Amino acid sequence: MKNRKKMIVANWKMNVTSEKDAVGLFNSIKSVVAKLDYTQMICCPPHMYVNQVAKQVNHPNYRVGGQDAYPEESGSRTGETSVLMMKNSGAEYVILGHSERRHLETKSDVARKVTAVLEHGLKPIICIGEEARDKNWKKTLQQQLKDVFNRVPKKEPENIIIAYEPIWAISSDKKNPATSTEYMEALEVIKKELQKIFKTAKAVEKIRFLYGGSLDDKNIEDFLRHAEVNGFLVGRVSHDPRILMTMFRLIEDHVQKEIFAQINE
Ligand code: PGA
Repeated sequence: MKNRKKMIVANWKMNVTSEKDAVGLFNSIKSVVAKLDYTQMICCPPHMYVNQVAKQVNHPNYRVGGQDAYPEESGSRTGETSVLMMKNSGAEYVILGHSERRHLETKSDVARKVTAVLEHGLKPIICIGEEARDKNWKKTLQQQLKDVFNRVPKKEPENIIIAYEPIWAISSDKKNPATSTEYMEALEVIKKELQKIFKTAKAVEKIRFLYGGSLDDKNIEDFLRHAEVNGFLVGRVSHDPRILMTMFRLIEDHVQKEIFAQINE
């Protein structure tokens, strides 16, 4: 789908440790984000600050998401945050199946969470990715998609976001992001599988696709120039306003150039 803003999903993980810092960080970026023409930011604070951050939201260019949600509304689940709590706290998106959580949950847990999030009118950001580019990497992606979507109602593709996050590229100490070529190879596999699952190309066109894994202001241009990407999921740089600002500027410049090129065609 054309004319959609590019998304930057800022996954703060467990790196912002007080309400004051969470609100302060959000407010330090929001006035700039409000002025962007082609970019939207989804800020995903730790659960306990979602509510406070969501209270600062007063512009459609920025939104708030959770980093996970339990797939029931309430009950005897010590330590969990339910999907209803997330919604009532002001989250509109929820990151699900992140590789840092997959060892804590089964594939059916991820599918249940995606279903519950959609049922509550929220948008799941579903993370998938292979551990290594071994001989089975394509099968791994296909299987992860089957595991989720075989159990999830096949409706509202416009509310579904898939983040391709190869595990070997996430927060890599060697700063080893995938390249736009590797992302495009994965996107082809993902789209083909989704087409089988959703049965129509139209549905797949409505799904948004993000790249995540050691992305920053240095390598984002490779993806902007050479990849078909609706946005990015960032971790390590997501709480660095200076780097985020540069990334926003690069996205805005790129989209503007694309629009001018289309006009002049
Ligand atoms: P990274 O994290 O940008 O630090 O690699 C991405 C993620 O884990 O979502």
